[in-house]
Amino acid sequence: MDLDVFYSLPPVPFGTVHVRANFVSSVDGAAEVDGRSGGLGGSGDRRVFRTLRWLADVVLVGAGTAVSENYGPVIVPADRRERRTAAGQAPVPPVAVVSGSLRLDPAARLFTADTRPLVLTCDAAPAERRRALAEVAEVLNCGEEAVDLATALTALAERGLGRVLCEGGPSLHAALGGAGLLDELCLTLAPLLAGPDHLRIVGGHRWETPLNMTLSHVLEEDANLFLRYMRHPRI
Ligand SMILES: NC(=O)c1ccc[n+]([C@@H]2O[C@H](COP(=O)([O-])OP(=O)(O)OC[C@H]3O[C@@H](n4cnc5c(N)ncnc54)[C@H](OP(=O)(O)O)[C@@H]3O)[C@@H](O)[C@H]2O)c1
Repeated sequence: MDLDVFYSLPPVPFGTVHVRANFVSSVDGAAEVDGRSGGLGGSGDRRVFRTLRWLADVVLVGAGTAVSENYGPVIVPADRRERRTAAGQAPVPPVAVVSGSLRLDPAARLFTADTRPLVLTCDAAPAERRRALAEVAEVLNCGEEAVDLATALTALAERGLGRVLCEGGPSLHAALGGAGLLDELCLTLAPLLAGPDHLRIVGGHRWETPLNMTLSHVLEEDANLFLRYMRHPRI
């Protein structure tokens, strides 16, 4: 099955963004088992995960997930690189990490990639850590005391990175949703009860208003459901 057909994006004009989040969850809402999401998804989830990466201009991730999941560069096979280049995209989408504290190890495998990652931070971030990370990444200030996510998305859009794939985690996802910056959610529902006391796909403070979503599709494989929801009925 050509998953691109199911996950294609509308045109994203230069200077604008479309923010798509991708998560896997157990049917009782757990977003992690033993602190990692890998135990939840099967082969179908991995295929969707890869497809969404290959369609994106940039992979956006919170520092918590980048560290706990030991993020590396996005891997794009040769044929997909060619397709991306023909479509006017960079061969490999960079990873952009959101962090106010900059507690990120410049020697981590993410920062050894050929494709230079971005670090989206704020003025209040420790200067020494910023200097160290600037050696291995493009470090952008997007706010004063904390990262302002609207400013961060504008910075990505200005670089032509309008198709934003947010891979979490729950804190970043909730902050984007709460600020009205989320356009789409792709959710794999894994056939598993994880039990109580796990992170959900959103974490942090309560929102004032829930977000209404429109169901765009449901796919199924091996009892996993692959759900695509749109925030605005734009597709
Ligand atoms: N099921 C799934 O699909 C899935 C996906 C992703 C992650 N996860 C799981 O989620 C867990 C991690 O969750 P998490 O909520 O800690 O991760 P997270 O959202 O990736 O990271 C939170 C961190 O991101 C930075 N951040 C986010 N929003 C910010 C803002 N507006 N301003 C400044 N910094 C901001 C902060 O970093 P600083 O502290 O550096 O300032 C914050 O501590 C892991 O167990 C992971 O396995 C599951």
